Amino acid sequence: MGKDVIVACDFASAEQTFAFLDKFTGRKPFVKIGMELFYAEGPEIVRQIKARGHKIFLDLKLHDIPNTVKKAMAVLRNLDVDITNLHAAGTTAMMQGALEGLTREDGTRPLLIAVTQLTSTDQESMERDILIKEPIDQVVMHYAKTAKNAGLDGIVCSPLEAGKVHETCGNGFLTITPGVRFADGDVGDQKRVMTPAQAKEIGSDYIVVGRPITAAADPVAAYERCVAEFVD
Ligand code: C5P
Repeated sequence: MGKDVIVACDFASAEQTFAFLDKFTGRKPFVKIGMELFYAEGPEIVRQIKARGHKIFLDLKLHDIPNTVKKAMAVLRNLDVDITNLHAAGTTAMMQGALEGLTREDGTRPLLIAVTQLTSTDQESMERDILIKEPIDQVVMHYAKTAKNAGLDGIVCSPLEAGKVHETCGNGFLTITPGVRFADGDVGDQKRVMTPAQAKEIGSDYIVVGRPITAAADPVAAYERCVAEFVD
């Protein structure tokens, strides 16, 4: 899989999701399904979107004891998703358990990506609530290296961090980057943003774009603009 635009389908129901996806009559966008839609509709929503021909990033951010995560991943592998993820904070043992669970009998598996420190966590809350005192950018880079050493395929990070992650972990280690906005668009609640063209320039492998596409007056045109800036 090469560079691609992943559309965050942050909808509350299958009905809303299909109303959105029905607008795309040509290209089939790569779709991100997160907790809201998955918990509302269950695994059937994954099968239905897959059956329509979309690639899927299932964004459930698993974090539990290694045995539980391994067994949960063994369920997800049968959903035939293309990318899924977990928290690197679950440690190497959990990430290795996840890889084992995710690997099918024929040796194939979805790509497995780690979440490092969530972008909603800042230095102050990290020090106060989870007693991590190191600078947050070093923490993120340490989690990236730990994920790579555990055998994972990449991390979710800000497009601003993608270059550093590739320097540290190699260009083959994937960076999936949310926080993307058009130069002339609304930033909304995202704080550190980049345009699709800048994300391409810095070397992001995949951009995750939600509201600039889902809330656009013409979502298909907004998607095509992302593809034109980031992929073509
Ligand atoms: O609408 P917007 O483009 O901001 O959507 C970004 C998507 O990426 C959302 O699904 C959001 O939950 C997700 N995400 C993020 N920042 C992270 C991790 C995930 O915005 N650090």
